[in-house]
Amino acid sequence: MVTKLLGPQALQRSRGIRADELERFYMSLLDKAMKKESVEIGMETMKLINNSICKMIMGRSCSEENGEAERIRGLVTESTALTKKIFMANMFHRPLKKLGISLFKKEIMGVSNRFNEVLERILEEHEEKLEEDQDMDMMGVLLAAYGDKNAECKITRNHIKSLFVDLVVAGTDTSRHATQWTMAEIINKPTILDRLREEIDYVVGRTRLVQETDLPSLPYLQAIVKEGLRLHPPGPLFARTAREGCRVGGFYVRENTPLVVNAYAMMRDPDSWEEPNEFKPERFLGSGKEDEREHGLKYIPFGCGRRGCPGVNLAYILVGTAIGVMVQCFDWKNKGDKVNMEEAHGAMVLTMAHPLKWIPVARTPNLQCRSELK
Ligand code: HEM
Repeated sequence: MVTKLLGPQALQRSRGIRADELERFYMSLLDKAMKKESVEIGMETMKLINNSICKMIMGRSCSEENGEAERIRGLVTESTALTKKIFMANMFHRPLKKLGISLFKKEIMGVSNRFNEVLERILEEHEEKLEEDQDMDMMGVLLAAYGDKNAECKITRNHIKSLFVDLVVAGTDTSRHATQWTMAEIINKPTILDRLREEIDYVVGRTRLVQETDLPSLPYLQAIVKEGLRLHPPGPLFARTAREGCRVGGFYVRENTPLVVNAYAMMRDPDSWEEPNEFKPERFLGSGKEDEREHGLKYIPFGCGRRGCPGVNLAYILVGTAIGVMVQCFDWKNKGDKVNMEEAHGAMVLTMAHPLKWIPVARTPNLQCRSELK
């Protein structure tokens, strides 16, 4: 089911949804630019990403008016914070189990119940629409399968809700922090910003908004996104359990041992990367050594293997287009300071200690939006 939503064909079908949301993102930044208001880049990006994913799954964004969108974004943030605690608890699973402590049950149930409340309402609304609307989104397809008594594979209401939560939680915070970190790197390095802008101006111009279909023609933008993910992987650690005894790097690992993969350290390892702490997008251009590394197990912002991220293609689109729009359409002003790149302590998703808050200045006065051309 996840592949169905996130595979290349499905992504092609849902392109229009993301184009609309990208335009909304641009309009919101433009509004702030006109009012000379500062923008919390992570927050704006979160709205873009959250709305895009919600709309892809259930055919509509969560409504801003009745606070539904805000509630979902809050629940995503709470879930991410809980992931850290659950991760730690899993690491010390046995002692905790022995003591009979279920440390986070109350918190987990709290978030789960509130998600359930919002999602149940959305499902009911969908069921009402299902009778009149034949043009089905993913939730519609799942609801039809849920109602089909002869279906080969029985789907429950909880399955549908869990899938929604899984995708929204896994996709939102990761993509928004990746975008924020990468924008911070670009703002700090004017030569990189200028080169990227030149590429976008040359390929896309200044009269239409950059689109995801432009990404294959924007190799420098792609390299920047990859380099941002190398230096600031939103998921710096991930866990595995050895199903059977095995040897790793000369150490014997016993069956059922919990293992933590430190992707952050691996992608800054000086044995694998030249000047590992420098932001150098060029390393991902062309067919050099760094490109080969990408195919090896040294570049792993999306994990790898069977448990690797199924949203990788969507993530490159969401992060690439968000950065594309912010660079194509705006200059970014602050009181002359450089961006502080300090990392927040103890966050499960790699987070900036000082969220990026800058004032956009519009630079594409003749830009026409899709909605105006229709
Ligand atoms: C820059 C953005 C993203 C990054 C860096 C990222 C990274 C990751 C990582 C490291 C994992 C764990 C992989 C492992 O254990 O080997 C993961 C899992 C996952 N990701 Fe992403 N992800 C991103 C965006 C997305 C998006 C946009 C979606 C979908 C909407 C998504 C859906 C998932 C799901 C469903 C899993 C769980 C897979 C499983 O446990 O079987 N991710 N992601």
